[in-house]
Amino acid sequence: MPAVPKQKALFSETPELVAHKRKLTSRSGSFVDNMKLPVHRWFRYSAGFSAQWVETELAAMSQDKTELRMFDPFVGSGTSVLAACASGIEAVGIESHPFIYRVARAKTNWNVDLSRFRDKTITILAQAKNGIINSSRAEIPLLGKCFTDEALNKLDSLRHVFLESHNDATDEGELAWLAITSIIRSCSTAGTAQWQYVLPNKKKAKVTDPFDAFELRVAQMHEDILHAQNAGWTNNCKIVLTDARDPVLPEAKKYNLVITSPPYPNNYDYADATRLEMTFWGEVKGWGDIHDAVRKHLIRSCSQHSSKEKLDLDDLLQDAVLDPIIGELEPACRELAEVRKAKGGMKAYHTMAAAYFTDLGDVFQALRPICSSGSKMCFVVGDSAPYAVYLSVDRWLGELALAAGFKSYKFEKLRDRNTKWKNRKHNVPLHEGRLWIEG
Ligand SMILES: C[S@@+](CC[C@H](N)C(=O)[O-])C[C@H]1O[C@@H](n2cnc3c(N)ncnc32)[C@H](O)[C@@H]1O
Repeated sequence: MPAVPKQKALFSETPELVAHKRKLTSRSGSFVDNMKLPVHRWFRYSAGFSAQWVETELAAMSQDKTELRMFDPFVGSGTSVLAACASGIEAVGIESHPFIYRVARAKTNWNVDLSRFRDKTITILAQAKNGIINSSRAEIPLLGKCFTDEALNKLDSLRHVFLESHNDATDEGELAWLAITSIIRSCSTAGTAQWQYVLPNKKKAKVTDPFDAFELRVAQMHEDILHAQNAGWTNNCKIVLTDARDPVLPEAKKYNLVITSPPYPNNYDYADATRLEMTFWGEVKGWGDIHDAVRKHLIRSCSQHSSKEKLDLDDLLQDAVLDPIIGELEPACRELAEVRKAKGGMKAYHTMAAAYFTDLGDVFQALRPICSSGSKMCFVVGDSAPYAVYLSVDRWLGELALAAGFKSYKFEKLRDRNTKWKNRKHNVPLHEGRLWIEG
């Protein structure tokens, strides 16, 4: 008798599934794949992580039947919260970068009344086309360098119509704002660097017409809204503008799951990443304004931030929140203070490092009372070595979490960094991965 083939269990771990999960996990720190996903793709945020990875984690965690309430203290463009919406899980995300908050908050309006969204965007485009203005804003240096006159006239017409008649804080109004915001880069002649910094002097070959780009974006949003609504995404998800170090939340809730990625202490300037968009909307006039408008609200993870605030290393190191790691952190900061003297840029990494760990220590202290006992947290983190001085980010954050009252931590490395490029600034091997904290 021929052998009866063994029946595969439903959702059994086929080699393909295992390979797929491994691929998702290894790309968990990257936003790239999100540009193919409904709603996520409305705004490219290079600091973001993978939505599919979050959904896979949520599906696995949902299996033990505990009702999940997820919290993300650094929600950025909203990836984790939107992944929770798609997974039917209640979630709150907070963000203190006012501009990125508005982007993420607008994305959660996927449950908008579609006909109102359609009417509003059709009206905005028609009004802009009917009254193309002669923009005087090419005098603003960044705008003058980044757009042709024709593109700026058309973009400014959309902006003008929106600000005059449609900036009404309705769901459809915020989506229309996002539609305009999200086409700024594709209509600009300026290049974009790896970290989303605008490069006015690097000209791009392909530039889109603003009216065409707006129409295309709106059509895409329309399609994605239909998708989310038909797929039955839950509406139990929120984005709040507040600071993770001392969050003010509308409801006192206990969360049993945190999935997040904090800034890394790697000198990435989140304020600079949105400089073009904020200048376009008139929220900042130039480079000098972005500290007050954005950076001062954020974790101190770049040297521009710590030098602007003229931080004092001795004062910083006295903060009791640093006690669990002071034995290792202090020598690293003192070394940085010495090394910088021989460097042309004299970057204030010494105070940046001390301030960064103080801030993350405060975040863990703030998380403890809003997380239930037995909660699970996943922090996607990367270490760093400014001026080749190694900062043991995952271990130090783990120790700060224990000091705040969490019970255990373990680090799962996902990939090595700083191994490939020829123009690396130093040879210190770095890594990125997930810091799992429980208790
Ligand atoms: C690595 S990004 C998170 C990206 C997010 N996972 C996503 O997919 O879009 C870190 C975020 O933390 C935000 N942030 C920095 N300091 C903060 C603070 N004190 N409170 C809340 N959010 C903060 C930054 O503006 C940034 O958007």
